[in-house]
Amino acid sequence: MKWHVLRPLWLAIGLLVVILIARQFLVPDDFGVHGESFTYNFHRLGNVQEWKDFPVKHLGRESCVECHEEKVAMLDASPHAAIECENCHGPAVGHPDDVELLPIERAREHCLRCHQSLEYPNNARSELPNIRNSTHKRRRECVVCHVPHDPREKPAREKRG
Ligand code: HEC
Ligand code: HEC
Ligand code: HEC
Ligand code: HEC
Repeated sequence: MKWHVLRPLWLAIGLLVVILIARQFLVPDDFGVHGESFTYNFHRLGNVQEWKDFPVKHLGRESCVECHEEKVAMLDASPHAAIECENCHGPAVGHPDDVELLPIERAREHCLRCHQSLEYPNNARSELPNIRNSTHKRRRECVVCHVPHDPREKPAREKRG
């Protein structure tokens, strides 16, 4: 055979050998087919345990009942029932033992994440009750007038004046 054919051939074979050797070192021992089907069970077995050990940050409102029973009952009976406490107060992992208080966010932007009116094509409207930030009671925090745990109610502060 001609040199110009053999040279790339040897190069290709050499490359293959390098890859096979590198594979021996780089592929983890527990990588392979674990289970019956090839489609979903071709993975690293240790990965399953790693995800089980992954620390959960959001605990769900069931975990708040013990200490904030009133708040949970109020939220459950409100139009905000579908929203998790931690959507507004952040992940509760470690609270109250390591993290004494969870953040309380009163900024307008916090509510506007969901309630900002958006431009839809064909003048369609969102089904979620929405307001225009630029015209709706500007420069005041929403919670001065709306109770976050039950937005149907008026907060005591506003009633006072
Ligand atoms: C074992 C009891 C316990 C559990 C469970 C618990 N909390 Fe608390 N939480 C407390 C205590 C104690 C405080 C500090 C005293 C206070 O202001 O009520 C606190 C404070 C807070 C505060 C700040 C209140 C403030 O005035 O600054 C928020 C917000 C809060 N918790 C939300 C939650 C949420 C959401 C959950 C569930 C994911 C939760 N907590 C679970 C006991 C608990
Ligand atoms: C829609 C956002 C939102 C959700 C959902 C929400 N909170 Fe709050 N929370 C707030 C805001 C805003 C304040 C501050 C209210 C104020 O200053 O009038 C607050 C205040 C608090 C406080 C301290 C002040 C107080 O009113 O006693 C606690 C404790 C608390 N929330 C717990 C909870 C728990 C428990 C849940 C779930 C059952 C929850 N929150 C769900 C937004 C929310
Ligand atoms: C994660 C999304 C989300 C966030 C954040 C949120 N809301 Fe809501 N809000 C909703 C949904 C969903 C409804 C109920 C829609 C329905 O059932 O018609 C609602 C309903 C309301 C209503 C109408 C209540 C009624 O009379 O029916 C008001 C007012 C309101 N929210 C105020 C607030 C305020 C103030 C905040 C900030 C503290 C806030 N929302 C944060 C999703 C959100
Ligand atoms: C000064 C008091 C005040 C402030 C501040 C305020 N609102 Fe309102 N909001 C009202 C009043 C009053 C209404 C009208 C209630 C009605 O018509 O039943 C209303 C209506 C709404 C509605 C429509 C409820 C429905 O049933 O369709 C939403 C949503 C809402 N506000 C969200 C917000 C958000 C989000 C903020 C902060 C960005 C905010 N509001 C700030 C007083 C206030």
